[in-house]
Amino acid sequence: MTPGPTNVSSEVMHAMLHPIINHRSPAFAAAMEGLMIKAKNIFQTNGEVVVLTSSGTGAVEASITNILRDGDSVLVTAFGEFGERLAEQIQDVGATVIRIESEYGNTPTIDDVRRAFEQNENLKALYVVSNETSTGASIRWLKEAGDLASNAGAFFVVDAISNFGGDSMPVDEYKIDICCAGSQKCLASPPGLSMLSISEKARKFIVDNPPKRHYLNLQRYFKYAEKNETPFTPALPLYFALDRSLEIILAEGIDRVIERHAICANAFYSGLGEMGLNMFAKPEVRSNTVIAMNYPEGIDDKEFRARLDANYGVILAGGFGRYLGKLFRIGSMGTVGRYHVIVTLTAIGMTLKKMGFEANLDDALSLSSSILSKLSTSAR
Ligand SMILES: Cc1ncc(COP(=O)(O)O)c(C=O)c1O
Repeated sequence: MTPGPTNVSSEVMHAMLHPIINHRSPAFAAAMEGLMIKAKNIFQTNGEVVVLTSSGTGAVEASITNILRDGDSVLVTAFGEFGERLAEQIQDVGATVIRIESEYGNTPTIDDVRRAFEQNENLKALYVVSNETSTGASIRWLKEAGDLASNAGAFFVVDAISNFGGDSMPVDEYKIDICCAGSQKCLASPPGLSMLSISEKARKFIVDNPPKRHYLNLQRYFKYAEKNETPFTPALPLYFALDRSLEIILAEGIDRVIERHAICANAFYSGLGEMGLNMFAKPEVRSNTVIAMNYPEGIDDKEFRARLDANYGVILAGGFGRYLGKLFRIGSMGTVGRYHVIVTLTAIGMTLKKMGFEANLDDALSLSSSILSKLSTSAR
């Protein structure tokens, strides 16, 4: 139950047993075409989608090195560890970062973004982490931000690695020029692939101004995409797994998948609240995919998570950066459903009790169960 890698179904695991084929063959082109159709469907885009053999960071780096140059000025939201990393990555290419900050556990507001656009000229881009995995806080104003960036002639880039596939992300409607996703989170695939959606505006810029890069040069990916190939050898088993994961998501229906994530997150927050725990994020920005909870007084992070793993086989993540040891995080992502929520809540409640914190587990479970009864897919 970590915020990535998440549980991978046996169907998706079995997809990796597909024979290793020549990636310069009609068989691969057909597979790639199918994967692209599914991916574009989930990004809800008529633009380009690129799959990279890299973890999510590779996609974020590609979004930076293909758009930004030394001397560019960029707005970046910073409200957690991944926002900080993003700002660092942007500075690495020599661009100037103008931070739009908020305290951890909260997010900047759309008014903060509007002010930043008013106070700064010649901005090349707005970069946003849509779901801050380190704090469990989510941005809810992507559509408005897309309008602001587009009116200012700036690119709008979103690191949606920890909520793509769990929250609605219609990239064309939101005017997102580049949206980064990772295979190992809400898409419920093994780690190792990342995806980027690329708008026509971003594509044109990249084609006209190709970066001095080799592997993460998106212009090469566009060229090879014309024949349904990748410029370099793709991680074939992971491609087959991702294709199966996307097929499963589309079969359930994107709206239903998103609703399932929202219901499971609500069941987690409500159940944990009933046990007497406090969530780390402000309620109005709480994430639908990463549940971050403060530890009650006296509960040791390492011991708590080791007990959960040893006694129940439930693996949670801790806090990191400045919140190391202060909170725990649950990945409510991908295949998450009734079973995962109830088992995880039970394991947490029982472990807290054993460690001396009187968690009200019975009430927590009955409240969560009533929320989970709203799930439309009974199998999960
Ligand atoms: C918001 C966000 N950005 C970037 C990353 C980095 O992704 P990866 O570890 O796949 O490179 C993560 C991973 O957790 C993330 O949650």
